[in-house]
Amino acid sequence: MRLVFLGPPGGGKGTQAEILAEKRQLPAISTGQILREAAQSEILGPVVRRTIDEGNLVPDNLMIRIVEDRLRRPDCRRGFILDGFPRTVAQADELGRLLDRMGLKLDGVILLKVEEEQLVKRLAERRVCSRCGATYHLTSRPPERPGLCDRCGGALKQRDDDREEVVRERFRTYREKTLPLVDYYAARGLLHPIDGDQPIDQVARAIEEALAHLDGPSQAPDGHQGPSPREAAAGQG
Ligand code: AP5
Ligand code: MG
Repeated sequence: MRLVFLGPPGGGKGTQAEILAEKRQLPAISTGQILREAAQSEILGPVVRRTIDEGNLVPDNLMIRIVEDRLRRPDCRRGFILDGFPRTVAQADELGRLLDRMGLKLDGVILLKVEEEQLVKRLAERRVCSRCGATYHLTSRPPERPGLCDRCGGALKQRDDDREEVVRERFRTYREKTLPLVDYYAARGLLHPIDGDQPIDQVARAIEEALAHLDGPSQAPDGHQGPSPREAAAGQG
């Protein structure tokens, strides 16, 4: 199964990609997480860090190289979940061309829809593990021991780009650069809009339901699909 998770900052892409990835034993590939790791490197680090901290997007040509390199790794043979890529029409076009060259097709695009007001609250209370990157929320998904990661015991911290002024800029970037992908994927019959403003397990269930048709016998081993749902473009993010 080859999926894209699309949605605004704080929409739950990472949370839901991780849940589905574990259930389906697929790699969840977060370009944001890859970039946060790249931000530690000497050469690319300063530029990447500045771009993220300003709420802007890293250039398309760099992103597509990063994603191509990742999708060609053996763990992606059975499928993958892309969290946060593509984020521009140019990236979506490039992803389409890359998958064509690899003889593969995208099976679906999950759009997580949440009101902006709600997103601000989510991001203000998000905490991430400084060691393994696991994500928590002080209210809706608190760690068992305050300040410590359940998975690895690492210290939890706030992401630098979750400061309110950066969050506002990330929303603006999302509306301007990424929202056009809603129509883009709806026109290709791949879009599955999901109400992301429900408890985490209910969102996960709604995603499973939206994807149920992909589990049927029409899925050939080469990844070719039978008819996909021609869902009309609903909602804009
Ligand atoms: P990235 O890390 O992808 O940031 P983002 O898109 O802004 O999304 P977030 O990670 O903030 O939110 P999320 O949707 O994953 O939500 P989460 O599950 O954590 O990218 C960071 C930066 O990298 C970008 O700004 C850009 O600069 C750069 N970048 C990345 N990809 C790029 C690309 N393709 N091209 C160019 N640049 C790129 O949930 C948020 C919080 O809410 C958590 O605390 C969670 O526990 C909680 N929560 C989740 N679901 C629920 C729920 N249903 N109810 C209540 N709380 C919930
Ligand atoms: Mg994320």
